[in-house]
Amino acid sequence: MRTRENIDSNWKFKLINDDSALEANYEDSDWRTLDLPHDWSVEFTPDPNNPASAGGGFFPGGLGWYRKELKIPEQLGANHVLIEFDGVYMNSEVWCNGNFCGNRPYGYSSFCYDITEHVKAGEKAVIAVRVDNSRQKNSRWYTGSGIYRHVWLTIASPVRVDHWGTSVTTPEVSDKFASVECSVDVVNNTYDHVNTKIENIILTSEGKEVSKESSFLKIEATDSTDCKMVMDIDQPSLWSPDAPHMYKLKTIISHNGNILDEYETPFGVRSIRYDANEGFFLNDVNMKMMGVNEHHDAGCLGAAVPDDVIRRRFEILKEMGCNAIRVSHNPASPIFLDLCDEMGFFVIEEAFDEWKEGKTPFGYQLFWDQWWERDLKDMIDRDRNHPSIVMWSIGNEIIEVRSGMKKGLPIMKALQEKCHELDPTRPMTCGCCAIRETNAAGYGQYMDIVGYNGGGGSCFDYEKDHATYPERIMYASEVPHSLQTRGVYRTKSWYRDLARNPDVERLVVPDYSEEEVFENFDEHYQSSYDNAMVRISAIDSWKLTKTLPFFFGEFRWTGFDYIGECYSWPAKSWNFGILDLCGYPKDTFYFYQSQWTSKPMVHILPHWSWSGLEGKVIPVVAYSNCEKVELFQDGKSLGVKTMGEDMQLKWDVTYAEGEIVAIGMNGNENVVECKHVSASTAQTTKIKFYESSLAANGTSVAHLEVEIVDSKGNFVPLAQHELEFEVSGVGHLIGLENGDPIDSTNYKINKRKAFNGMALAIIQVGSESGEIKVTVSGEGLERNEISIKAE
Ligand code: GAL
Repeated sequence: MRTRENIDSNWKFKLINDDSALEANYEDSDWRTLDLPHDWSVEFTPDPNNPASAGGGFFPGGLGWYRKELKIPEQLGANHVLIEFDGVYMNSEVWCNGNFCGNRPYGYSSFCYDITEHVKAGEKAVIAVRVDNSRQKNSRWYTGSGIYRHVWLTIASPVRVDHWGTSVTTPEVSDKFASVECSVDVVNNTYDHVNTKIENIILTSEGKEVSKESSFLKIEATDSTDCKMVMDIDQPSLWSPDAPHMYKLKTIISHNGNILDEYETPFGVRSIRYDANEGFFLNDVNMKMMGVNEHHDAGCLGAAVPDDVIRRRFEILKEMGCNAIRVSHNPASPIFLDLCDEMGFFVIEEAFDEWKEGKTPFGYQLFWDQWWERDLKDMIDRDRNHPSIVMWSIGNEIIEVRSGMKKGLPIMKALQEKCHELDPTRPMTCGCCAIRETNAAGYGQYMDIVGYNGGGGSCFDYEKDHATYPERIMYASEVPHSLQTRGVYRTKSWYRDLARNPDVERLVVPDYSEEEVFENFDEHYQSSYDNAMVRISAIDSWKLTKTLPFFFGEFRWTGFDYIGECYSWPAKSWNFGILDLCGYPKDTFYFYQSQWTSKPMVHILPHWSWSGLEGKVIPVVAYSNCEKVELFQDGKSLGVKTMGEDMQLKWDVTYAEGEIVAIGMNGNENVVECKHVSASTAQTTKIKFYESSLAANGTSVAHLEVEIVDSKGNFVPLAQHELEFEVSGVGHLIGLENGDPIDSTNYKINKRKAFNGMALAIIQVGSESGEIKVTVSGEGLERNEISIKAE
């Protein structure tokens, strides 16, 4: 019977260029012992001399080895042993007991090796992995280095469901009935043919059986055969972002009554349809995709992101009303997609950022000819059963496409054909900037759906293109691009100065009439007032998406800030996110929340602690999904305003220490409020434990959200104290983040300054239950201590 075990723990690691490390008996006792996922780049301090430069956030690459000892069971018998890597960045080569298993250049593909012939029952087996990320630059953003995703060990019968061997589709879907088409690829790794019985059972998420079918299958020796069945579900629970119901297909393979293999395939019942005039339909309901783009890193953790960290990030996106994610610009990790299924996000999974024309000297262009087909196939085969995935993207701002090079046309055609062959149920797409060049060269004919990336100005062509290409199905794959730094506010003349800088001339200068009130900010920070924007603002972009019926959604650049692609040293990240590297909302987060959610909310900006600016006029902006908002300063009404087409409200308020309160009103009822109080001197910290409970399983994560507060507990928005964290007990600190794009302090030490009043500590729990004590201190601040339990 099949077992599949996570083997993330207890790997040996060294940054060493020594090929003898592939040998089984290599002496590695002085190597570091660690658990995966692991990213060695993020453990270093960013340095302007690192060749990854601004694109890679000034972190180093390098070459490293990992080794792990496996114990092969005594009772292995004729079973096969398979090792599966969810992702290794990059150029991995794997050996088992000194035998070469294979290599994989692309750092985002998952792969599996059958190591049966290299192992012996009851004995040890040594896995050695060489990871080469030394050739820089190879990416436009931060990649991380190492085995940064999970690793699995499967032991299964020689007659079994093949790797990624199931496909489940739902060609007919309604509230009353769904037909489910299952295809199961069964492999026979023996030298005899075998007659098998294949049983497919559909189970609800609670384990209730709702459908069952079986058939008989003969598989020739050393061959594989596909078994297809059509099954029914009565009154299915449909999958949608609001109600992400999942089912499981359980496949049982038996021979003469003996079970050889059992395999589970999670899937969802849902239908998708796209229309050039009416947009997108899920289960026959028209809806907009309200999306974000995401890279794979998570601030201080780099690319080694524990599952709980992804979960928290998704919860935050859900709170904003986001229902869609474009995985830019590479295949996602399996857990990322599992969580999208479970929590309800539409996903565009993207294969490539470049084809044959490279964007960096050592990027995917070097592997294109040999690997594109395999990498694309593996992405689709691995992920085709996720109900969350609604489009396959074969590229982002591809040079051949955006430059209108005719030589890219056959590539686009081949990619489209391959996608259709591998998955006839989903359309393919491509993120296109320079849409005019793309159109002129004729790329549109080879895209099922055209994604508009707005940076190059494509966002102004939606209606024109809809008229010119009435059959075209369209959405914004990357719009808007806007920049904002959490807690930073400044006004007009700063932008005038910025606009004079030729490097940033693309930024649109907002037309504010206020005098400049806030000065001397670093050039790497962007104000929260207006979202320094590339081409189009968040508000204008959403207005278009909302009102154009043929246009089915937008994916902003980005949800969270990400490392790399920064402006210049000393920044290691830039400010495209509407959530910072900690996952703390910037003001624009609340703009989207006001448009994408219905639970009453109101948010005002800026904060109200502007000592020294007494008597100056400060613009106060409100976002709300209520009908009206009334603003009060120190108890006095500054007027009621009605939310309208502008999607925001503004009052000019003369600053005085005190408080401002916005009340959201529906009809005559006050339904929600947002208050900012002027803070006095910073006194201590307030620590919020994000999770409500922690499992002592060696992988859970506690997020401690830390704010600096005054003696009355008011948030001190400009506090930048250096904080020191001491963690003891059954957990350890895995990263400290503050969201400051120009803080290049090492991420793995236990000190970090607060950025605009806030910081985040991420603690990983061990496998023993008990207490974790965390003390936070800083000069001039009272020590604060909390204790959390892992059970
Ligand atoms: C787009 C690109 C993204 C990112 C963004 C920054 O052109 O597709 O990957 O680079 O610009 O503005």
